[in-house]
Amino acid sequence: MDPVTLETERLVLRAFAPGDVDVVYDACQDEDIQFYTPVPVPFRRQDAEKRVYEDWPEGWATDKDYTLGAFRKDGGAFVGSYCLTRLSLGVFELGYWAAEKQRGRGYSAEAARALCDWGWAALDVHRIEWWAMVGNTGSRAIAEKLGFTVEGTLRHRVIANDGRPHDWWVGGLLRP
Ligand SMILES: CC(C)(COP(=O)(O)OP(=O)(O)OC[C@H]1O[C@@H](n2cnc3c(N)ncnc32)[C@H](O)[C@@H]1OP(=O)(O)O)[C@@H](O)C(=O)NCCC(=O)NCCS
Repeated sequence: MDPVTLETERLVLRAFAPGDVDVVYDACQDEDIQFYTPVPVPFRRQDAEKRVYEDWPEGWATDKDYTLGAFRKDGGAFVGSYCLTRLSLGVFELGYWAAEKQRGRGYSAEAARALCDWGWAALDVHRIEWWAMVGNTGSRAIAEKLGFTVEGTLRHRVIANDGRPHDWWVGGLLRP
């Protein structure tokens, strides 16, 4: 489908555009994004270009994942990336990361909630999942704020960017 634009009280969520390569590149230098999300390390400018020019538009075009960038209404600063990824029939995964400078203001919860609300309204989805490495308390706080039930811990579920297997939390949110 064509990308949508969503608005919350403080944010605009829109598809990434070519002019966003720099903010994506800068944000993804952050060590938490590099540890807790599956971005390449080191994260090079061409990795940002690939996401902005190819992966994210293709995700929308093929209905595999719906990624939106969140930007502040007051001044336009880039806040972060928020995504729903199709896992199986009727099941999507919510993923997110925020630029370090914009954290701690409730923006990620606001953006992630808006994306989930859009998902319930626009997609054939009955369950949204959330996955995070055990210990990623920030990610879990957002999921719980949105009403996700943390359903379990999978041992040694994913090899992270440190090359070691880590335990992962999984949570779910059912269609309201
Ligand atoms: C996780 C992340 C997206 C949080 O972004 P954020 O914009 O700071 O989150 P918000 O400001 O919307 O916070 C929402 C709630 O989570 C809480 N929270 C945020 N970070 C937290 C942390 N590190 N530890 C504990 N609670 C945290 C906030 O206090 C807030 O709760 P409150 O409203 O009751 O005060 C951000 O830290 C990040 O990008 N981390 C690196 C990438 C990552 O881990 N992504 C998730 C992969 S599963």
